[in-house]
Amino acid sequence: MDCRGPLATLPGWLLILLLLLPPPGHQGLALRQGLSTQRIQDLPSVHLSNGSGGEPVTVMTFNFTKIKKSSSSFELRTWDPEGVIFYGDTNSKDDWFVLGLRDGRPEIQLHNHLAQLTVGAGPRLDDGTWHQVEVKILEDSLLLTVDGEEVLRLRQVSGPPATNKPQPIIRIALGGLLFPISNLRLPLVPALDGCVRQGNWLDPQAQTSESTPASSLRSCAVQSQPGTFFPPGTRAEFSLQDIPQPHAEPWAFSLDLGLQLAAGSGHLLALGTPENPSWLSLYLQDQKMVLSSGSGLELDLPLVLGLPLQLKLAVSRVILTQGYKKEILALPALHLGFLLNLWAQPQGFLFLGALPGEASSASFCLDGLWAQGQKLDMDRALRRSQDIWTHSCPQIPSNGTDTTH
Ligand SMILES: *[C@@H]1O[C@H](CO)[C@@H](O)[C@H](O)[C@H]1NC(C)=O
Ligand SMILES: *[C@@H]1O[C@H](CO)[C@@H](O)[C@H](O)[C@H]1NC(C)=O
Ligand SMILES: *[C@@H]1O[C@H](CO)[C@@H](O)[C@H](O)[C@H]1NC(C)=O
Repeated sequence: MDCRGPLATLPGWLLILLLLLPPPGHQGLALRQGLSTQRIQDLPSVHLSNGSGGEPVTVMTFNFTKIKKSSSSFELRTWDPEGVIFYGDTNSKDDWFVLGLRDGRPEIQLHNHLAQLTVGAGPRLDDGTWHQVEVKILEDSLLLTVDGEEVLRLRQVSGPPATNKPQPIIRIALGGLLFPISNLRLPLVPALDGCVRQGNWLDPQAQTSESTPASSLRSCAVQSQPGTFFPPGTRAEFSLQDIPQPHAEPWAFSLDLGLQLAAGSGHLLALGTPENPSWLSLYLQDQKMVLSSGSGLELDLPLVLGLPLQLKLAVSRVILTQGYKKEILALPALHLGFLLNLWAQPQGFLFLGALPGEASSASFCLDGLWAQGQKLDMDRALRRSQDIWTHSCPQIPSNGTDTTH
């Protein structure tokens, strides 16, 4: 657990204190009327992606003066080690709270008049199974419980609200932040490829509004496995300058990938520029993987799933290896010059999935992609289609357009 010093200052309006303050007791039964749209609290399970990057999938507001229950609980299922589970505030400047994951473990960042801190605690939750999580205020403390076990107790972070302030509204956002990422105490990539169910956010009796859940909510009904899933037509782009660099003497560059699912026809990956995206490419066609130099030279391997595939670029040739199978594509010197030049310019890219302008029907699951032996994280791609499942794949072949709503 790393803790960056709580600073006691004014008693304030701590979000959390607000979030969770008054002791439970009142069991009002009045059902809230007037919210005609489907509420997150009612859905069986909700994917935390909005469909537009790390934006929240929904935002709920609560009337503080009506809050009787001082805890929020839910179940989380994810393979993604990093992202925002929920954000809450009364004020995005000096009274906010974030529960996220970093390296698979829960992390709390909070900022209010009593305390400013960043703390990680608890077990890894990114194992694809459901975990029960509860965040609760008890007197001056914030308690984090995972699977029934208290994993963190932060003392002196909550206190009585200032009395001379107007009645606050508490906002809770799922799967994203309500301020720029740069306002976080410790930067985090907010997008979390995960599902939440059995959400019980603060006190439903005090809820005053909820944004309509994003229409692009991904289905959480599908069983998932770790990996990255590219539905047809989706693409991710890495700048060659942002990923591990080729070996210099002798010049060499390797890409390793594990294909778990593949269907349709179209590109899996390519090296090129936006104008000429396939100086070297690997695509799916008729149950074969075809390696092409873009200048007419091609070779292919039968499509075999589940066996690591390696693409090794060296001076004058490209070697495609899978299991005991090995194919070598010789490259003419001129072509090689163009290829090497990709690393020397800002427009050199590694494309994954459909190329710009390509009508691809290929969908596939990568259970990992390594450049020069180092794993690439899709959340750190320069650009990517929002429909890509960054840290999960369906267990059965599907075109990924399935949505629950
Ligand atoms: C919050 O609830 C109080 C008490 O019912 C009410 O007077 C106040 O108008 C509510 N505030 C908002 C913003 O709805
Ligand atoms: C999803 O994010 C977009 C872009 O910020 C936003 O306009 C939209 O309201 C969000 N959807 C929900 C349900 O919050
Ligand atoms: C792909 O998705 C579309 C739209 O949801 C659906 O109609 C179609 O049957 C799906 N195709 C396959 C092969 O799953």
